[in-house]
Amino acid sequence: MSNESGAATGAGRDLLERLDRIRSEGVAALEEAGDEEQLEEARVEYLGRSGELATITAGIGDLPPEDRPVVGRRANRVKTRLQEAHESRERELEREARKREAESRDLTLPGRAEWRGGTHPVTQVIDEICDIFSEIGFSRVRGPEAETEWYNFTALNIPLDHPAADMHDTFYLDEGVLLRTHTSPVQARIMEEHEPPIRIVVPGLCYRRDAFDPSHAPAFEQIEGLAVDEGVDFVEFRSAIDFFVHRFFGEDTRTRFRPSYFPFTEPSAEVDVSCPMCDGAGCSTCKNSGWIEIMGAGMVDPAVFEAVGYDPERYTGYAFGMGPARIAMIRHRIPDMRLLYRGDVRFLEQFVR
Ligand code: PHE
Repeated sequence: MSNESGAATGAGRDLLERLDRIRSEGVAALEEAGDEEQLEEARVEYLGRSGELATITAGIGDLPPEDRPVVGRRANRVKTRLQEAHESRERELEREARKREAESRDLTLPGRAEWRGGTHPVTQVIDEICDIFSEIGFSRVRGPEAETEWYNFTALNIPLDHPAADMHDTFYLDEGVLLRTHTSPVQARIMEEHEPPIRIVVPGLCYRRDAFDPSHAPAFEQIEGLAVDEGVDFVEFRSAIDFFVHRFFGEDTRTRFRPSYFPFTEPSAEVDVSCPMCDGAGCSTCKNSGWIEIMGAGMVDPAVFEAVGYDPERYTGYAFGMGPARIAMIRHRIPDMRLLYRGDVRFLEQFVR
């Protein structure tokens, strides 16, 4: 190095001294920077584009030719040294920051439980019902929520001017197009597409212009069931329902068929089960009657077979429809249907399993 300075003329020597000073001052400033902000200030001052080092480097071309290589080399070395000092201080500061962070964590705090999602209680009921029916040969299918009047009413033997059509409190989307008021239209759709034997369960949303109150929702699930073949009779119908009731509510649960009316079944029935809460003794769930209604059902009316092009002389069948929200309410003693549809996790989280 003495060699180099020795080679420099007056101006060059002066610059070499300045470079040495920049290095010692710069390294000190960088190494002593107390935080990222101070480090950045030192970097701008000593390594920045308008810093002294950069100015010297830019002026090298103006030096006498014999001084240029000496000053140039020295300037490069100083720059490298300053960059090293910057980098190592930067790493140090990062390390210190991480350490401070770790120390500020209170390791004695109790852990936060992981949030677990689950299946909605109504979906649980739907899945269980469909699984039980699948054991006796029913497949799970779906149909559209936007339906035509034909499938929702006419094909099901409900004339549009019949009071049964009014009773459904239909949401119309357009002329002749509506939100299905029950899952029964899927019966007609499937029969049109497939020849018997048919055994299906059809879960899905239905819509009615009902008040949103403790026992009604304007959008609610139903599960439809349909079995059609040659020789399907009332005995098979009853035993399928009994099989389901025993599986779902328990072996001791009794069923009761009460005569009813649906345009698409004949005879029609409402099916009650002995109250699973009090075993039929009478409680608040069954309003002291000992029985709870779980579905509408019946033997498929021949008029429906005619509408879908089946031979009513050859085929017979049964159909049923139930409301899984109501069944979830019975099962969990939920007093208000609206709880099931509000999406409040504090309520829903109770059913995660
Ligand atoms: N679709 C009827 C309803 O919504 C229920 C039902 C289905 C009744 C199938 C009989 C047979 O009320």
